[in-house]
Amino acid sequence: MKSFDQNYITQGELKREYVKQMFDAIAKRYDFLNHLLSFGFDIYWRRFAISKLNLSGSERVVDIACGTGDFSLSAYRKIPVKITGVDVSINMLKIFKEKAMKNGVVNSSFLCAEVENLPFKEGVFDICLVAFGVRNFSFLERGLKEIYRVLKGGGKLAVLEFSLPKAPLKQIYLFYFRKILPIIGKIISKHDNAYTYLPESVLRFPEGIDFVKILNGVGFGKVEMWRLTFGIVTLYIAYK
Ligand SMILES: C[S@@+](CC[C@H](N)C(=O)[O-])C[C@H]1O[C@@H](n2cnc3c(N)ncnc32)[C@H](O)[C@@H]1O
Repeated sequence: MKSFDQNYITQGELKREYVKQMFDAIAKRYDFLNHLLSFGFDIYWRRFAISKLNLSGSERVVDIACGTGDFSLSAYRKIPVKITGVDVSINMLKIFKEKAMKNGVVNSSFLCAEVENLPFKEGVFDICLVAFGVRNFSFLERGLKEIYRVLKGGGKLAVLEFSLPKAPLKQIYLFYFRKILPIIGKIISKHDNAYTYLPESVLRFPEGIDFVKILNGVGFGKVEMWRLTFGIVTLYIAYK
């Protein structure tokens, strides 16, 4: 396997272009691979996150880095909320749109935009969802500041992101994550390194208390945290 260019996971313009092109290229196979490589656990992780938000149905929800929309759809299935999906990849958004129509979602809009520069006024959303997105932001803190800006006072940000389990599971998991997953991902997605980018970007990402500090740094007050499935994924809920 070709060595992976570490510049693609360093925040900046190069990462922005790489990430956008990569998700445009793998969009059609994204959902299938997501469920396969997570053994279906991704469905449970999003559902768990939604259950912690105690939605009433009247909220305006923005799904940032929405991709093919599974986080929004999980919220909508629980209770029909007004959804705005935002993503840099037009191909991922197209699939979300198709899925939203199939699922009879009303009151939804889809925007091709980057989190670092959101085309919304201050304080318009009650809830912001980000599943497996923050790790991909071109500029993490700039993106989180924008999310903070567009949330209403008292609004909530729910972030799901990969993290690493503790020993002794850590070694077994890292073997799967760094050796097995990229091979299966490459064969099915037909993309040279999208599934090498995945573990590399996770290993680089500040998880747990380090991410909580970043959330506090951009202005969020209370942050709650749940480690799911042996710590493979962490849910953060941050309050404005
Ligand atoms: C791993 S996918 C997650 C998709 C979806 N949230 C889910 O739960 O499956 C990451 C998504 O983040 C989007 N993305 C990456 N960087 C972004 C940015 N700076 N602004 C907006 N979207 C971004 C990608 O295009 C991609 O669709």
